[in-house]
Amino acid sequence: MARESRISGFYRLPLNQRRRAVCDVSGVDIDELTESLERGGLDPALADKIVENVLGTYGLPFGIALNARINERDRLIPMVVEEPSVIAAASNAARMVRSEGGFRAEVREALMTAQVQLTEVAEPERGAERVRASAHDLLALAARAVPGLIARGGGPRSLEVRDLGEGMLVVHVYIDCKDAMGANLANSVAEAVGEEVARIAGGRLGLRILSNLCDRRLVRVTAWASARDLRVRPEDGMDGSAPAEDVIDGIVAASRFAERDPYRAATHNKGIMNGVDSVVVATGNDYRAVEAGAHSFAARSGVYRPLAIWRRDGERLYGELEMPLALGTVGGTLRVHPTARLALKLAQVTSADDLAMLAASAGLASNLAALRALATEGIQRGHMSLHARSVATAAGASSEEVERVASALAATGAYDLAAAQRILRDLREP
Ligand code: MEV
Repeated sequence: MARESRISGFYRLPLNQRRRAVCDVSGVDIDELTESLERGGLDPALADKIVENVLGTYGLPFGIALNARINERDRLIPMVVEEPSVIAAASNAARMVRSEGGFRAEVREALMTAQVQLTEVAEPERGAERVRASAHDLLALAARAVPGLIARGGGPRSLEVRDLGEGMLVVHVYIDCKDAMGANLANSVAEAVGEEVARIAGGRLGLRILSNLCDRRLVRVTAWASARDLRVRPEDGMDGSAPAEDVIDGIVAASRFAERDPYRAATHNKGIMNGVDSVVVATGNDYRAVEAGAHSFAARSGVYRPLAIWRRDGERLYGELEMPLALGTVGGTLRVHPTARLALKLAQVTSADDLAMLAASAGLASNLAALRALATEGIQRGHMSLHARSVATAAGASSEEVERVASALAATGAYDLAAAQRILRDLREP
């Protein structure tokens, strides 16, 4: 594991030194890292083999969130995201929970769900009973469709029948996909057992496809933070700092708001997905599947709810996140994308479950950072100072000039391109 996920002054280092520091900590070869990141990792010729009608590739910033300790181990968290402040915020929040032990994460079971739809079932109750009674044979049939998975120790584990009414039955087959995301495996199983299920239940065969509401593949993360570590510091650039105790109450009130109001829960969960998706994209995983799973899980009670909640625990703040996460560390994009493989190496990911715990920790960190900012001075100041760097770059500032132009922009409070160009001109011709 990373020897130390805290690298002091990391954000101030020039890009080359940042790369070196990360290689020192993770043991990744600097040439491999440089080669993979310089070209966005993906050759257009390779991209042409992955999807259709390719014209080229599309780059996004690849960064590392620092300070994370997950299940007693220091971890670097690779993140790919276009939004300023997401990586800084996750790093800051990881620091806030660190002295209370960092993140504790677990995956209790990791089963994908394959669905087989039956319609026009004349006797749904008896049909369902017959399917349940044939579970052993159906699971054996399912296993024959995924011999590679069986060889790796995975496979179909159990079966469930749901009566949706109006003669519609749905059969779920639960599959341990090991380190694969499992969409293809679940689809193969659904197609393999479909006809036999229809014959046994006495209905017409409908859809055979995985469900992205993979509520048998949940990850849970918890963390505590002391009032001292949450307090607003002068270096956060906040005026009239709130007393540390009020920060805890403010975060709890923000959580309660999301628990009572789906409008707020949507934004609360968006903040969580800032962290989760950034890791999902960095590691070449299917972010649409993750999003579909997260939001359907959030709405499972019939009311859309927050994926993470926060409470006071004595003098400390306590947070917990639970969500479905179907991620893979083998197959799919990983087979071909060097940067996705690099991300797994930098984070020293050991399994798909381990990756889910890493991504969920980034999600809880992002949520904490957002709620802390919202409960104190609001997020705009932090956002805008980072936004100033993009405006400075757009105005033509070199990497040596960016910070000076950005600070001057932030000081004026105007973040437009013309102001940045003016500041740059004055800087170059004093
Ligand atoms: C912005 O990307 C995410 C936030 O809106 C999340 C939140 O409001 O909790 C700051």
